[in-house]
Amino acid sequence: AADGGHYECVRLLLDSGCNVNAQTNRKMNALHYVAQHGHDREASLLLKAGINVDAINNVSTQHCTPLHLAVFNNHTKVVRLLIDAGSNLNATDIRQQTALHIASEHGWHDLAEMMLISRVSLSLTDKQGKTCLEVAARGNHVVLVDMIIKADRFSKWEKDHQPETQHFRSVLWTLATKHLCYGEWKILAQHWDFSEAHIQAIEQQWTGKKSFKDHGHRMLLIWLHGVLVAGENPTKSLYEGLVEISRTDLAEFIRQKANSQTSSPKMCCVM
Ligand SMILES: *[C@@H]1O[C@H](CO)[C@@H](O)[C@H](O)[C@H]1NC(C)=O
Ligand SMILES: *[C@@H]1O[C@H](CO)[C@@H](O)[C@H](O)[C@H]1NC(C)=O
Ligand SMILES: *[C@@H]1O[C@H](CO)[C@@H](O)[C@H](O)[C@H]1NC(C)=O
Repeated sequence: AADGGHYECVRLLLDSGCNVNAQTNRKMNALHYVAQHGHDREASLLLKAGINVDAINNVSTQHCTPLHLAVFNNHTKVVRLLIDAGSNLNATDIRQQTALHIASEHGWHDLAEMMLISRVSLSLTDKQGKTCLEVAARGNHVVLVDMIIKADRFSKWEKDHQPETQHFRSVLWTLATKHLCYGEWKILAQHWDFSEAHIQAIEQQWTGKKSFKDHGHRMLLIWLHGVLVAGENPTKSLYEGLVEISRTDLAEFIRQKANSQTSSPKMCCVM
């Protein structure tokens, strides 16, 4: 049913308690088939039913996951679903290629971008000893080469700055979960020039009456990313933002909290 893209059949079979993880003698599960053909509605059904996203098939030349197949066949929607479902982007096939190697080989930068944003490893090498970057370069896929270099530089930069921003991140978490009232994160986001589309997209994920805390936290982390990349002072910028939305009380409180770490001497761990 999955192979043929028969939505109603797949649904009926799942509803009747069929084993969603059943595999053929070549270790293909249903997700491998829908990934291969790009049946995105059926893929959603299977994912909801809890199918193993990282199953590895045993078709002689592949040994690959559904993600490899979806990328190989350029099925954007299915790739999106598989990434959102937590597929292991670092999984490798029989040629030791990640799905990003495959996208790099074909120069598919839309697919590559999704995987880069979701933090695929860039250091893995295929059987010929090539990284994704080298594969993209070999294929003269200029846009993709530049994209991979940017992602690589960014992840190194982020690693270097992680210790400095850790305390500030915890301040942002406190702000979002304990101090900002319902709706205030949106006013702050507007002040920082988030578009309506961005705000709505953040808000889309509803997890209950306290969702706004989650939304606020995500918005603050996105904002922090921009501030750090621009080399601005996050404490100052946050202070000004809070004053701007008439929460001077909070601005002062947060400023003190943010500075509490930097003013104390750095502690080292002994033994
Ligand atoms: C894969 O299939 C081959 C034969 O086609 C078999 O020898 C091998 O044991 C299989 N591997 C796994 C992990 O099932
Ligand atoms: C890959 O898929 C994208 C989006 O569906 C499409 O725009 C593009 O033309 C496809 N490329 C190839 C080579 O099939
Ligand atoms: C994949 O590799 C990246 C970079 O090394 C790492 O951050 C990420 O956690 C890895 N993902 C998995 C599922 O192992």
